[in-house]
Amino acid sequence: MATIGAVTKKFYIETFGCQMNVHDSEKVIGTLVNLGYQQTESHDEAGLVFYNTCSIRDKAEQKVFNILAHYKKQAAAGKIFGVLGCVAQQEGERIFERAPHVSLVCGSASYTKLGDLIRQVEAGNRRVTGLSLDTDETFDTPFTRRDNPFRAYITIIEGCDKSCAYCVVPFTRGPERSRTSASVLEEARRLADSGYTEIQLLGQNVNSYKDPSTAGWDFATLLDAVGNVPGLRRVRFMTSHPRDFHKPIVDAISANPRLCNHVHLPVQSGSSRVLAAMQRQYNREQYLERISWIKNSNRQMSITTDLITGFPGESDKDFEETISLIDEVQFDALFIFKYSQRPNTPALSLPDQLTDDEKGRRLTILMERQRAIQIVRNARYVGEIEEALVEVYSTSNNQWIGRTCDNKTLNFSGPVGDAAIKPGSYQPVLVTRAGPNSLVGEWAPRA
Ligand code: 5AD
Ligand code: SF4
Repeated sequence: MATIGAVTKKFYIETFGCQMNVHDSEKVIGTLVNLGYQQTESHDEAGLVFYNTCSIRDKAEQKVFNILAHYKKQAAAGKIFGVLGCVAQQEGERIFERAPHVSLVCGSASYTKLGDLIRQVEAGNRRVTGLSLDTDETFDTPFTRRDNPFRAYITIIEGCDKSCAYCVVPFTRGPERSRTSASVLEEARRLADSGYTEIQLLGQNVNSYKDPSTAGWDFATLLDAVGNVPGLRRVRFMTSHPRDFHKPIVDAISANPRLCNHVHLPVQSGSSRVLAAMQRQYNREQYLERISWIKNSNRQMSITTDLITGFPGESDKDFEETISLIDEVQFDALFIFKYSQRPNTPALSLPDQLTDDEKGRRLTILMERQRAIQIVRNARYVGEIEEALVEVYSTSNNQWIGRTCDNKTLNFSGPVGDAAIKPGSYQPVLVTRAGPNSLVGEWAPRA
């Protein structure tokens, strides 16, 4: 096997966390391949092992340290370990103390330097770091390795300038940096030309996108322009902050059918008092106003959100306001998290921390309530023909798995081996049944 210095030129990478991390890993993989490394799915045969980590909640962070501890002995056999991403940035050089067999620690704001850092590791340096947050660069590379041949991520903005009291992201991903609209469009065109039909624009807060070039586009303008790239059929975005979610974004989606009719708008709590303590910069009424823009659009849109249970000081009354918010909005899906104390964050030292049991109790109440809402919400599709982007054929339930424009999973029966239905194709499907989490249907080719 080829080696450079002591490093076997095969790498293994495992990714935790959000889509930003998944896409960062695609860029890191491309960077490594360009340096002459070969990716392997086998931890054992890799000379270089990377974990691209998440620290959004304590559990995610602990997972990485457990894995590192598990593989500690392999370092003695010459394997090199690297920690990337949010835990890397958050813990920095402390990682070398907690896991002395780690040789490379690099946060996402330093990925542009990853090639140099890896060369230092190849040269035998076993304490290599990339931890500066002081950057105005985004990590763009022509070498991105995308596994999915029809759906691609494009980063439009990195970092976050908000200071939500519970959140590590401003500390792990640094200040906001937007890419130029020209470079985003160039990437979108290149992807469309090579057969991609679905694009997801990514950023911690895509709504605060601000084109650094003289064009000066805002997010709605960029979204619409990407939606007009010839060859693309679906354009999504993730994730939004309600404070910066402006009506032109809804207007753009209403007017351009290639922009997917789904908005993920994390609310976190239904109580204005808790929202203020979270430093979210909007209250319940302002959030509901944004929801009304979406609901009053001429396109039927699905709306999803994130919620945190048991933020410090969340009273029974506050929690009831969250219940009443989900009853009022009727979201299509909720992502609910128990509040987790994170280092450096303003909420860390707040009094009135709730017990884990109480956070869990509140989470269960919301999940059960939401399950009933989703059964009703999803029933509205029964009898409709929906267009599904086909992902894969599932042999376990003998159905195709597809996704609708508004981001619902749609499992459907249809011929296998027929050239018409294949992964990456768009198929009309008659929805025959609806469950709380997915739709079921039958292929309904137009006569
Ligand atoms: N504890 C629990 N959930 C959190 N989130 C972010 N920080 C925390 C935390 N400290 C949730 C928010 C965010 C989602 C990505 O993760 O709901 O929208
Ligand atoms: Fe996790 Fe947040 Fe970092 Fe994404 S940005 S990997 S969710 S901590």
